[in-house]
Order: sequence, then structure tokens, then C-alpha cells
Amino acid sequence: MKALLLIGGLATRLRPLSLNRPKCLFPLQNKPIIEYLLENLSNAGCKEAILAVNNLVDTIERHLGEEKYGIKLHYSLEETPLGTGGPVKLAQKYLCDDDFLVLNGDILSFIDYRALMNKHKNNKSTATLTLTQVKDPSRFGVVRFGSNDAIKEFVEKPTKEEAPSNWINAGCYALNPEILDYIPADKKISIEREVFPKLADENKLKGYRYYGEWIDIGVPDDYLQAHKILQTKNERASSIHPSVKIGIGSKILDSIIWENTSIGNTNEITDTIIGANCIIGDRIKITGAVIGDGVTIKNDIIISTGTRVWPNKIVEASIVEAKEIK
Ligand code: GDD
Ligand code: MG
Repeated sequence: MKALLLIGGLATRLRPLSLNRPKCLFPLQNKPIIEYLLENLSNAGCKEAILAVNNLVDTIERHLGEEKYGIKLHYSLEETPLGTGGPVKLAQKYLCDDDFLVLNGDILSFIDYRALMNKHKNNKSTATLTLTQVKDPSRFGVVRFGSNDAIKEFVEKPTKEEAPSNWINAGCYALNPEILDYIPADKKISIEREVFPKLADENKLKGYRYYGEWIDIGVPDDYLQAHKILQTKNERASSIHPSVKIGIGSKILDSIIWENTSIGNTNEITDTIIGANCIIGDRIKITGAVIGDGVTIKNDIIISTGTRVWPNKIVEASIVEAKEIK
């Protein structure tokens, strides 16, 4: 079984963290998101994966190398971003001989890829999409079912009112090589806007319903939420890299701290993501903020919810109203 992983794009909604690090390498319990995907693929018997990349490529290659969890990795480099469909066409030499998987690289889930592929082979459709239920489908691709899990309609990011159901595209598909005929070469194509609606009209699109935990790491709150999904015991624990130094009396709740950051004494850090190599002083209270790599925060400062601080800034005064410090 082969899989193509979509890990390009700029992840602008995760800035400033995504300026220096691609979203697929954001750690969850000190393991990058993409490794959860690769490990799950390996357990399903996948032996070869194509990584569709265009941004911060060296960082990705340096981290993953040529093989991971027994999966041989091929890098498929787009000169300019080709969207979510173009990369499939670009990698067609790897994909033209058998059914394959396509995965969005920013999803944490426990989808059984083997079961998805089996269902796809049985129903003989061009594409079988994994679907999950959410409260607000408007941020996602949404489907309307016909009988026997056929997908009759696919709408990408409809308004809440227009959404045909609350079953959404979970960013994990099994595809038949026939899909390659639906994607023009060398063009930026959205598979969700330009290909899936067409397949639905032609009765070639099926759904595979998934009921387990699922999250798309699109914005900082989702990243914090993904970390909570992986928590088992202590509900308010944080994900802190082992190299982080923490002073006496500091409380760090529901937060994520990347490597080589140092945190002084009697701080209160809640619902916050702090990048790598930051220096956080003493008696600081930070709530609901995103702090980029290499930031220094001086003593006796309060940083309030919604604040984002760009890499290498020095914060010398409290930020009482949320803003971006660039
Ligand atoms: N190689 C490559 N090139 N990858 C890309 C590009 C590109 O130009 N643009 C985006 N990607 C990757 C992203 O890194 C991500 O892993 C995946 O494609 C999906 O892009 P997002 O930007 O995260 O899309 P989304 O979350 O708004 O919507 C998509 O995912 C939802 C589920 O999380 C759609 O597939 C929705 O239909 C779906 O519901
Ligand atoms: Mg996404």
C-alpha cells in the first residue's frame, strides 16, 4: 500500500510558529505530527510514501530522511504550490499502478487505513473519503449522503446554513488511479473544489464513516486541543520538551513548550504555545498566547489572550489587549 502525504502550504493561521517550522513537524508529546501519520501507516502495512512538499523542504528532509517506521520516503517537490490536487498528478509515476491513499498532513486521528482501503476496493469507486462528524462543518468539506454510503454532494467550506450535513471530509482518502484523469498537469488544483464535486455528480464517490478521535491542526487552539486528545491521566498537564528549564514555583497548564526554552520563577502560563529558544523571565502571567521562536520576555509582565509574538522579539511591557507583535 502506498500513500501520498500533503505537507506543503504556508500554514498562515499558525504564524508565527509556522514561519520557521512546517506544520507537519509541530510536536505533540515531543513527536512531530507527521510521525503519528507515518507510524499509523506503517501499522497498516504501508511500505512507500510520497511526501508532497514545497515549503521549508530542507527542514522536513533533514528530520525525516529516506525512511521512517519501515516506510521508504520519496520527496515530490512542487516549484510553486499546486494545492491539494496538483501534487497527486505530479507524483503520478508512483501512483499509476494501484489504489493508493492521500492524507492531509495536519490531522491527528486513529483511522484504520487498512479498513478504509478494503472498503474502497470492495465498493469499486474512484474515491472513498473518510468522513467524521463535527459540530460546525463550515471550516471543512461537507457531504450529503445517498444510499449505501454513496456521496451525492460535496461542498468545500459552505456557510453553516448551507452545509448539507455535519459529516465532513476527514482529509484521508483511498483513490483509484483513474483519479489522475481528473487532474490536469502542472496546475494548482483543489481536489475538494474541482474534483470531488464532479465525482459526486458521476456517482464515483463513496464515504467511509469514522467515529474515533479526530482533529485538524489548523489554528493554535486546535494544536492545544490535539495535545489534550493525547493526554491520558492529568487533564491539565502540558507538553514540554525535555530540554526546557523551568524555575521554582512556575505553573504551566494546558500549554506546549518547544525545545531549549527557559522559563524563570513563579510564572503562570496557561493555554499557551511557546516556540523554541525563548527566554521567559520571572513573575510572568501568560494566557492564551502564541510566542514565536527566540522571543525574550522580561520580568513582571502580563500577556493576555489572543496575543501573538513574532520570532526574536523582546517584550518589555505588559500586553493587556490582544495584538500581534511583529
Ligand atoms: N503539497 C502541498 N501543496 N500540500 C498542500 C498545499 C500545496 O499547495 N496546500 C495545502 N497543502 C496541505 C496542507 O499542509 C495540509 O496538510 C493539507 O494539504 C490540507 O490543507 P489545509 O490548508 O490544512 O486545508 P483545510 O484544513 O482548510 O481543509 C482541508 O482539510 C479538511 C480536514 O481537515 C480540506 O481537505 C477539507 O475538505 C477537509 O475537511
Ligand atoms: Mg487543515
